[in-house]
Amino acid sequence: MTTPAIVATGITRTYELDGVSVPALRGVSLTVEPGDYVAIVGTSGSGKSTLMHLLGALDRPTSGQLLIGGRDVATLSAGEMARLRNETIGFVFQSFHLLARTTARDNVALPLVYRGIGRRERHRRAAALLDRVGLGHRVGHRPNQMSGGEQQRVAIARALVTEPSVLLADEPTGNLDSATGRSVLALLESLNADGVAVVLVTHDRDVAARARRQIVMRDGLIVEAPPPTPPSGEAPDVPHGLAPDGRIVDGRVADGGAA
Ligand SMILES: Nc1ncnc2c1ncn2[C@@H]1O[C@H](COP(=O)(O)OP(=O)(O)OP(=O)(O)O)[C@@H](O)[C@H]1O
Ligand SMILES: [Mg+2]
Repeated sequence: MTTPAIVATGITRTYELDGVSVPALRGVSLTVEPGDYVAIVGTSGSGKSTLMHLLGALDRPTSGQLLIGGRDVATLSAGEMARLRNETIGFVFQSFHLLARTTARDNVALPLVYRGIGRRERHRRAAALLDRVGLGHRVGHRPNQMSGGEQQRVAIARALVTEPSVLLADEPTGNLDSATGRSVLALLESLNADGVAVVLVTHDRDVAARARRQIVMRDGLIVEAPPPTPPSGEAPDVPHGLAPDGRIVDGRVADGGAA
């Protein structure tokens, strides 16, 4: 058995804001296997981005256990978290988060600075990744000289330059027209075909339907997590899902919220 890429067990995240507790995640259990392709859907405010930040080691759970690459984030220092993130995770944000005054090449190369990789090699790898996302002709352009779809592809190249085993994409097509969105999605799927695990948040049911499995969130809980389709495409003998509290349930809705 290979080690799962990410294992979350009953994780919660409560934000403290002006003395008020906001329970954004209320107990989520989720396993991401190597090479997985998971879509997360759910209404605005249901906790999707909060969960993605945790899966990406950008934040820590308030309670519950989170293993990334087999390592329990609760035992890691901030520096160790940063290294784990740099070694394991690529993160694509809805709003790109590119440096506006920096060329595409230097935006993509930035994560390699933290690895102590020399300038020439950084530039070589960044150019290769920009080529891969179809932007070989835009290496010297700055984000404000590029279209939204091009900026999103720069962000994907930056997420990939460290050769992560998991790519987390929070609404990567949310700001794009449908044709550009499809090409970004095709790019993510070609990476997944190369063995990179992809976890993607989307409001688009058609986009979500392309994933190997879908997770539905509501009020900080997973309310629906159909079983993964086996690689062979056969239906599993006993369909099951994992309820937010860890119970195995038949089929589908494991509604953790008291109605
Ligand atoms: N930094 C924060 N401080 C306080 N509350 C927060 C913070 N970030 C998120 N929240 C709250 O946590 C809840 C979940 O937010 P989150 O961003 O995870 O939702 P989401 O499912 O990603 O929504 P959307 O689809 O709109 O992006 C919301 O009620 C939100 O207001
Ligand atoms: Mg969000």
